[in-house]
Amino acid sequence: MIRVENLVKTYGSTVACNRLNCRFDAKKVTVILGGSGSGKTTLLRQITGLEKPDSGSVFFDDMDLTRASKKDLYKKRKKMGMLFQGSALFNYLNIFENIAFPLREHTRIAENVIKNIVTMKLEMVGLRGNEHLMPSQLSGGMMKRVGLARAIVMDPKVIFYDEPTSGLDPISTGVIGKLIRDLNVKLDITTVVVSHDIASSFKIADKIIILYFGDIIAQGTVDQIKNSTDERVQQFITGSPEGPIPFTRTDTNYVEALLADTDKSMEKMS
Ligand SMILES: Nc1ncnc2c1ncn2[C@@H]1O[C@H](COP(=O)(O)OP(=O)(O)OP(=O)(O)O)[C@@H](O)[C@H]1O
Ligand SMILES: [Mg+2]
Repeated sequence: MIRVENLVKTYGSTVACNRLNCRFDAKKVTVILGGSGSGKTTLLRQITGLEKPDSGSVFFDDMDLTRASKKDLYKKRKKMGMLFQGSALFNYLNIFENIAFPLREHTRIAENVIKNIVTMKLEMVGLRGNEHLMPSQLSGGMMKRVGLARAIVMDPKVIFYDEPTSGLDPISTGVIGKLIRDLNVKLDITTVVVSHDIASSFKIADKIIILYFGDIIAQGTVDQIKNSTDERVQQFITGSPEGPIPFTRTDTNYVEALLADTDKSMEKMS
């Protein structure tokens, strides 16, 4: 369904995606795992056509999004649903209007039909009857579920979730995970999830891709990942502080430049 070939995306000297090659199979759940700053959101932004890569291709239904016209890209993007990192609900709109928003933007569907669609999507995420609430009145888990209902409101062929469980308690995490899996089956859609939650990813994934500072260091089924002999993969999935992955990767040149700059300023002052 989606094929990424030699994808490169840099921001200044940061290589966020370093010649990535991977596939997201139709109707399956693929989870992109990786630590903070490993390039997960960047990869998602390239495969959804929100951003253009420096080089490489992203094929969606065999059309290269990186070379598609604006019109074609827009058409393809209508087939995609997105749950952004942090839900991205409109604070000034109630739940109903948040979910109805894409329908109002992209279609001319009659009001009574919009009402039915929104009610149905809310039912699917277990929030029917809460239409009137404002985002500020929702718990984190509810916000994610509203974001999820909005992501599926246009009946997408593919749905992308960026950190759907971050900041949630273990039970809400389980609920969202189950919901993602159920929707994948019920709606028969291709699902791409970005996460750093190992346990819930293992529960819902058909395939896992692990990113590490812009590189794919492993991809395969849950069992293949569990049996990987790559030390970085093992350290990541066991969450061990000991191993080849440093606690943080600091830019020593940058720190040295800052120190030199501070020294200079101190000299001037004294
Ligand atoms: N718009 C941008 N401008 C500059 N640098 C960026 C931009 N977006 C991402 N980066 C950098 O690219 C790298 C990858 O970032 P990205 O947001 O893809 O990570 P992530 O895996 O989604 O992390 P997290 O789990 O914290 O969300 C980081 O070093 C980040 O600072
Ligand atoms: Mg991110």
